[in-house]
Amino acid sequence: MSTIAFIVAAYLIGSLPFAVIVSKTMGLSDPRSYGSKNPGATNVLRSGNKKAAALTLFGDAAKGWLAVFLAQQFGPRHGLAEPEFAMVALAVFAGHLWPLFLRFRGGKGVATALGVLVAVNPLIALSSAAVWLLIAATTRYSSLAAILAAIAAPVATAFIQPGVYFGAIVVIALLLVRKHKQNILNLLSGQEGRIGAGKTAAN
Ligand code: G3P
Repeated sequence: MSTIAFIVAAYLIGSLPFAVIVSKTMGLSDPRSYGSKNPGATNVLRSGNKKAAALTLFGDAAKGWLAVFLAQQFGPRHGLAEPEFAMVALAVFAGHLWPLFLRFRGGKGVATALGVLVAVNPLIALSSAAVWLLIAATTRYSSLAAILAAIAAPVATAFIQPGVYFGAIVVIALLLVRKHKQNILNLLSGQEGRIGAGKTAAN
């Protein structure tokens, strides 16, 4: 299997939209039809179904982890070099942001980025997740927590494991922040919905 095959496989894994898959399987509305319209765990939570939100979070994180894990495990024997693992990490993240199965209109990448970080180094993932938890617990803004956790990820990487993944993690953080443009505007204008605000929240 060539490098391209690993990258395409990672992109397709990333394209699996767990917010939509879980919601449809559980008989819930499509998350693209309410709240922020984002196919992600935070928006699924606005449906009021915590189990669906948790499954979405798990699925989207697991796919990020899986793609990088597969490259790490099976890549070397198929000629994949370490720098190419980083390309796989970018590919699975890109799959979530621009999924083939949702006509390239995907989510904001928070859970998938976390999964990628777990595969790269659980300590980096833990550092970033700790920032998310701290900000979410104190402000109840999921988006603000995600943005700050994303910024923390390359900083943690620089300290814990500078190397082949650093560039990819910087790009992932930049894309994630860019995907939160509307959330940033809402935060600045005081219109961002807080965790637990419900389905009617505009964002
Ligand atoms: O995981 C995405 C989160 O950071 C923001 O989601 O639905 O409030 O735009 P949402």
